[in-house]
Amino acid sequence: MKRLSGKRILLGISGGIAAYKSAELVRRLREQGAEVRVVMTRSACEFITPLTMQALSSNPVYTELLDHEHETAMGHIDLARWSDVVLVAPATANFIARLAQGSADELLTTLCLATQAAILVAPAMNKQMWLNPATAANIETISNRGIGIVGPAAGEQACGEVGPGRMLEPEQLLLAIQAVFENGMLAGKHVIVTAGPTREPIDPVRYISNRSSGKMGYAVAEAALEAGAEVTLVSGPVALDAPERASCVRVNTAIEMRDAVLENAAGADILIAAAAVADYHCGAIAAQKIKKGDGALTLNLSKTPDVLAEAAKLDPSLFTVGFAAETETLKDNAIKKLEAKGLDMIAANLVGEGQAFDVDENALELYWNGGSLKLEIAPKTRLARQLLHVIASNYYDKQSNKTH
Ligand code: CTP
Repeated sequence: MKRLSGKRILLGISGGIAAYKSAELVRRLREQGAEVRVVMTRSACEFITPLTMQALSSNPVYTELLDHEHETAMGHIDLARWSDVVLVAPATANFIARLAQGSADELLTTLCLATQAAILVAPAMNKQMWLNPATAANIETISNRGIGIVGPAAGEQACGEVGPGRMLEPEQLLLAIQAVFENGMLAGKHVIVTAGPTREPIDPVRYISNRSSGKMGYAVAEAALEAGAEVTLVSGPVALDAPERASCVRVNTAIEMRDAVLENAAGADILIAAAAVADYHCGAIAAQKIKKGDGALTLNLSKTPDVLAEAAKLDPSLFTVGFAAETETLKDNAIKKLEAKGLDMIAANLVGEGQAFDVDENALELYWNGGSLKLEIAPKTRLARQLLHVIASNYYDKQSNKTH
């Protein structure tokens, strides 16, 4: 199973002999399904060539802060936004010092300042340099800012000394990256996710549907799996592969979606309804293909069951999260839905004019009783992970309020 499918890893290489191990790391990351882009400092290029890293990553390698060619394709701010994780391996004593200072004197330090992604550094240096109080203070500074320090290991060093300062092996760095995603926040919990559109038949060949691609719901299911949950994905018809570890129930209509959700809801802990369920369906589906006539055609539509509201009503202990897709007055409409459907949380977003539907990026406004949070525009996969953090923390708050 590929543990890093679709994850975007930015590998920064600073100038140390351990840079040769980073070549192997790129290979291992890609084996796990990650997309890798490499940024090298000038001194890193003395130890290993950008061409090697380009061949292994199948992407251009970035070495300069102001590079006319790259700035038009993917500039340094785009690269910072693109990344899910930034790993600097090897991170030299000098690089760590510049990171601690908040320097933006070259591309890699600038990226570390500009990114909102998790940053890991894998120190690699001579043992005296590692043990020097200046390095220790720099490590403390960056670690207090939330930067993860992986390693170093102790052992024989390139300079002939034996002690702490060796960069971790590629396998260990791979595990450290996986651990950023697999946080175990919802271990032992059963999460149901609805995704995609529904299709409401008109006759044997036609149906009413909408433009939902299912991308957000599938990203939410993936993020719930990474958070350690058992996931049931109830999906309308979409062109996406279900996440490998999810149990996926494929449905077409709103009624089928309702039945599948209620069937799985017993004993479930959280329901996240990302599906764009049709609000109306044909009261009577024509048995034969409807032939065109001279005049207008009127379809008699009746309301579909509200999957989310029914589930919330049936089991108040289920933590329910709705999505509100709105074209105007986002906050008011979202809060109305939160209250009307009896939900614990709602994730609202603007739709239309190229926003939200069938695109890879989105932004969300989250509302719950007594709180709200804006999640800025980001790839849906990253947004889903942020959303899962907020859901988990509200879920546990609700649980602890119940016991007090
Ligand atoms: N939903 C549902 N079943 C329905 C309609 C909506 O489970 N029949 C869920 C959606 O998955 C979403 C939330 O309810 O999580 C809000 O859906 P939305 O379509 O925005 O709201 P509606 O209540 O249908 O209101 P309107 O279409 O009028 O905006």
